Amino acid sequence: MRRAIETVLALALLVFPAAAQDPGAGGRLAVLWCMACHVVEPNPPTASDSAPSFRVIAADPSTTSGSLDRYLSRGHTLMPDFSLSSQERNALVAYILSLR
Ligand code: HEC
Repeated sequence: MRRAIETVLALALLVFPAAAQDPGAGGRLAVLWCMACHVVEPNPPTASDSAPSFRVIAADPSTTSGSLDRYLSRGHTLMPDFSLSSQERNALVAYILSLR
């Protein structure tokens, strides 16, 4: 238990620098895990053609918190399997929808 707490604290310290630019747990997760393929920031410096940017995903009228949650729980075709916890999924969904 103590070890788990230490690990969480160490991770929080590792992740913290990203927080300065990107408020919100979902934004930090997106920078850590999603930025390799997706443009995750609201105003990307460059466009990406491989994966849709999070702003484009958010702007799609068919995107809802339910559709995002379903999508993230089954994992996508070209993506590594993240096995996100439901808390992490919620944070990412909230972040993506905040880009609307
Ligand atoms: C290895 C590259 C890669 C990574 C990493 C990645 N994605 Fe994706 N993602 C894609 C590609 C390619 C697509 C579009 C094709 C597909 O669905 O597989 C996509 C599609 C999506 C879609 C659906 C878009 C739509 O139009 O409905 C969502 C939502 C999404 N990604 C979220 C995420 C989140 C959240 C993360 C981080 C936890 C992430 N992705 C990490 C490559 C990636």
